[in-house]
Amino acid sequence: MSHPLFEIVTTTAGAVSIRNKKLNEIMHNPVGPMREANELYIEQSNLKWHLTQDLTTELVIYDVGLGAAANAIATLQAVKNSQRPVRLVSFEIDLELLRFALEHSTQLGYLSGYEDIVKTILADRYYEHENIKWQLHHGDFLDCIEDVNHKCHLIYYDPYSPKVNEAMWTTECFTKLRAKCQPRAMFYNYSQATAIRAALLEAGFYVGFGKATGLKNHTTQAATMLKDLKSPLDQRWLERWTRSDSQLPIGCQDASRLKNFILNHEQFTWPFNLGASAQNNWANRSLSRGLLK
Ligand SMILES: C[S@@+](CC[C@H](N)C(=O)[O-])C[C@H]1O[C@@H](n2cnc3c(N)ncnc32)[C@H](O)[C@@H]1O
Repeated sequence: MSHPLFEIVTTTAGAVSIRNKKLNEIMHNPVGPMREANELYIEQSNLKWHLTQDLTTELVIYDVGLGAAANAIATLQAVKNSQRPVRLVSFEIDLELLRFALEHSTQLGYLSGYEDIVKTILADRYYEHENIKWQLHHGDFLDCIEDVNHKCHLIYYDPYSPKVNEAMWTTECFTKLRAKCQPRAMFYNYSQATAIRAALLEAGFYVGFGKATGLKNHTTQAATMLKDLKSPLDQRWLERWTRSDSQLPIGCQDASRLKNFILNHEQFTWPFNLGASAQNNWANRSLSRGLLK
């Protein structure tokens, strides 16, 4: 019997994935669940490198929008046998997608061998093995995030798109997330939307271009420290932003305050076009203000 909300589909790139029939969104489209999980989140965040650093401190990873658990499984695979303890904190409002994925694990492939672990997380909201602790917060992310005790180092942010999942892309939501970041934390997401980047900036992140994936020539990274961004949004982005039809974050109440904030954001004083000595001056000034560490 077919499921009322989900169906297994083959993407245009030939990957097996899941479509939400009501929202008409295919997960990890078109490259498929594991390729997107690995390229956009695991590899881009340099997870393997993080596992070799600071071995006595637990690495905390937020998996926002657990969904069909492709990002979570890719994380479990990557951290297996690492010496550093890892805590994976997943958030999901509706576990039906994960139950559907479990029922179709043979077709999807990536859940093979992980079925019992997924059953444990569904039943107990917690799974622990060797160096890994995996906890699940079942409920609305905007509420659950308030109660999370462990501040994060890495964020894999994967809700549905802003078109159908607005509340997860507002400044308010990103501000709550920013408050749960370690002093040095990174955020990764598939969107390249101008309004989303403006919301992240307003919430207190520095924001940059992320790796290309599928049909997108770039995605979005954000960081608590500017120096951690490989490719920060620059003056050219700022110029495009001033001309954009979608420059304001979803639900923005005070456009002129927001515009003033973005135009004067510290990130855009980065001296891309200046010579070496001016760059040094800028770095010294920023160091004294705590922008660089
Ligand atoms: C694109 S799917 C996630 C795919 C998933 N990361 C994976 O690897 O399979 C988006 C997920 O975000 C969840 N979601 C949307 N809004 C949410 C909210 N307010 N709180 C928690 N989860 C939410 C949806 O229920 C859905 O399962």
